[in-house]
Amino acid sequence: MISGQGADLALKILAAPLSTKALNLRPPEGVVMVMIGYGDILGAQTPITWSDDYKIGVEKIDREHEELFNAYGKFIESINSNNAPSSITSTLEIFEDYILYHFSNEESLMLSIGYPDLFSHKLEHLDFRVSVTRFRTAITQGDDINHDFVKFFGHWLISHIMVMDKRISEFIKNSSTA
Ligand SMILES: [Fe+2]
Ligand SMILES: [Fe+2]
Repeated sequence: MISGQGADLALKILAAPLSTKALNLRPPEGVVMVMIGYGDILGAQTPITWSDDYKIGVEKIDREHEELFNAYGKFIESINSNNAPSSITSTLEIFEDYILYHFSNEESLMLSIGYPDLFSHKLEHLDFRVSVTRFRTAITQGDDINHDFVKFFGHWLISHIMVMDKRISEFIKNSSTA
């Protein structure tokens, strides 16, 4: 059960109108998003490329992150190929399904190790998940694709992995040496 500030945030996200213009996105905690130097060549989107630098050192989670990058890449490919909205939204659905699968696995891991920041981490997951779903719903309802949000999703993935997810592996490391 979400309560207090978290409940306010969750309600704010869930109550936002279904439009890309109203997506309630925010960067992961403590991260300033810099949107320059990323992606656009004549309006095309560039997929984010998986690299070992993004590994946090938990094998299963790293594998899933790589899969997330791949699913996001297929979504970008579909946009760049000027596919029909229905085909773009189907790649987005696959991305969403994998997000759901991965977030759920990561949250189970945090729960199993007694991770102290589980709640705020879960809220970030929820925020992102709802935003991607709202984005898909907006396209399904005929909105134009907001390319800034598409880019933001890629940025969010990298930032979230490098800041929030990395803390999980640091916690595991510190717990095993304590
Ligand atoms: Fe996470
Ligand atoms: Fe993750």
